[in-house]
Amino acid sequence: MKVVSVVGARPNFMKVAPLHRVFSKMQNVHHLIVHTGQHYDKNMSKVFFDDLELPEPDVYLGVGSGTHAEQTARIMMEFEKVLLNEKPDLVIVVGDVNSTVACSLTASKLRVPVAHVEAGLRSFDRTMPEEINRVVTDALSDYLFATEEAGVTNLKNEGVGEEKIFLVGDVMIDSLMLYQEKAKRSEIKKSFDISACEYTLVTLHRASNVDNRESLLVILDIFRAIEKHGKIIFPIHPRTRKRLEEFDLLSQYSMVKNLVLTNPIGYLDFLSIMTDAKLVLTDSGGIQAETTFLNVPCVTLRENTEQPCTVESGTNVLAGLAVEKVVDLVSDCYAGTWKKGKLPEFWDGKAAERIVKALVNSFMPNDS
Ligand code: UD1
Repeated sequence: MKVVSVVGARPNFMKVAPLHRVFSKMQNVHHLIVHTGQHYDKNMSKVFFDDLELPEPDVYLGVGSGTHAEQTARIMMEFEKVLLNEKPDLVIVVGDVNSTVACSLTASKLRVPVAHVEAGLRSFDRTMPEEINRVVTDALSDYLFATEEAGVTNLKNEGVGEEKIFLVGDVMIDSLMLYQEKAKRSEIKKSFDISACEYTLVTLHRASNVDNRESLLVILDIFRAIEKHGKIIFPIHPRTRKRLEEFDLLSQYSMVKNLVLTNPIGYLDFLSIMTDAKLVLTDSGGIQAETTFLNVPCVTLRENTEQPCTVESGTNVLAGLAVEKVVDLVSDCYAGTWKKGKLPEFWDGKAAERIVKALVNSFMPNDS
């Protein structure tokens, strides 16, 4: 059986790594990794391959940045050549980035079966490009692997046949569990001088938060109001840095005394600072899940989430960009009052095993 897994952007690497680990132990599966090149900076891509012990991608498409249409189209054109050349039995796509939708569309038109890992998540907000990517990818997929019960419900509500849906847990949590010990050896906290103090970790890159000056000014107000609690570590996503420069705001951010602005951080170092953070402020999807797993308080600077379990039973609270609400939540957290999280079903480090088992059952029933 020949399987092609697609990675493109930073949040894809830790999702494909556990699948690769399981596939590479199997004699009868040839697993290829195709990297679209959606993310190409060393600290957005290569460092993750190193940290997650992933081999070099078998194919690198090198598509780079562009508008959504340009990026999606370039990935489709290049990925079509790969499929015609390699003739895989299955394409696996993960998450909700442009590479996910581009490759599922290309594969399904060539009648190559598609498996979507992290299927069924919905924010019900089509202003988010990721929501469009999720809806289209799920509509085209033949195997839909959900991380949480809400994903299963959403897919059923959209008319997806039950035989295609598998509740397997979260492959990102597989990676986190595998690398938790190793991350403890990271020296990153020493370099920020936060080994022995309480600090807030921030990540922001959603278009709705960083693509306009007003939102970036609101975020600056939040930083000014919360810096009294201690250091704020803010690894800046390339998109966010670009906007801060365009809007001439970087110097104002730099003036917040306790705000530490830094480049994006690799997987193990990030895991290390996230694990020991007093609190995380984010608009990332993955970090909402990771903080729930780690039982670290998380304030999500969005109005909605595609992962309701992180709010309903985890440590996550949605706050949008309401300054007062965020500031109150941060104060609550530093005062030591925060809800205790509970782990969703199947977040046990074995999601990749379940996925591979389901696929082998379907493609090679005699081998399973
Ligand atoms: C993408 C995903 C988003 C995911 C995020 C994680 C889509 C629609 N969005 O958003 O879901 O949460 O990745 O990081 O797929 N850039 C660089 N170097 C890089 C990559 C990007 O400088 O290695 C800059 C470019 O200027 C680019 C901008 O960042 O134009 C945005 O990159 P892009 O891949 O289009 O989307 P992200 O905002 O990273």
